[in-house]
Amino acid sequence: MIEKKRVAILISGRGSNMASLLDAAAAPDYPASIALVLSNRPGAGGITRASEAGVATVVVDHKAYPDRESFERAMDAALVEAEIEIVCLAGFMRVLTPWFVSRWVGRMINIHPSLLPLFRGTHTHRQALDAGVRVHGCTVHYVVPELDSGPIIAQACIPVFPGDDEDALATRVLVEERRIYPQALAQLASGEARLSGQRVEWLLKR
Ligand code: GRF
Repeated sequence: MIEKKRVAILISGRGSNMASLLDAAAAPDYPASIALVLSNRPGAGGITRASEAGVATVVVDHKAYPDRESFERAMDAALVEAEIEIVCLAGFMRVLTPWFVSRWVGRMINIHPSLLPLFRGTHTHRQALDAGVRVHGCTVHYVVPELDSGPIIAQACIPVFPGDDEDALATRVLVEERRIYPQALAQLASGEARLSGQRVEWLLKR
């Protein structure tokens, strides 16, 4: 029997990336199991989807806490309680403090809808159109204190066609997000990728 890492997925919205991780983790030989889905928004569509899939869910509503630190301490407690080993951010729309990031450093990854280091922050498809790039894409990276930075585990690109708008790019990029996030999580969970200082160290399989 393969040893599976216990993973939590942090979401704020519809959770389509979360769903791709749940689908991948259903395979017997996948090196991670999704032990918890945590949302900071009570109405997040992904919570319903996760419950329907039989996954434990918890809502830690940031509005219920007086400050960022107490909100993050509540999230951290929920993760520790569920014996989580790896955290996947999947459309989680809260900026994390250096305290929380350092708690999970090397064990927390994020999916971002651009080819980092281009187009950090929000409205990445708008940023790509404004910049006139001919390729665009998505990135899975380790989370570090600086927003949308951190050593890169996986990327995928798509062409930008004349006439593309934000929705067209978002749709095409999302297909790639759903493909590479499960692969990147498997690489982390299996020990194939690990964080070493500012770089990803790869275990070379012979
Ligand atoms: C995705 O585009 C992801 O890259 C970004 O937020 C979006 C979340 O979508 N961080 P979903 O909730 O996974 O459908």
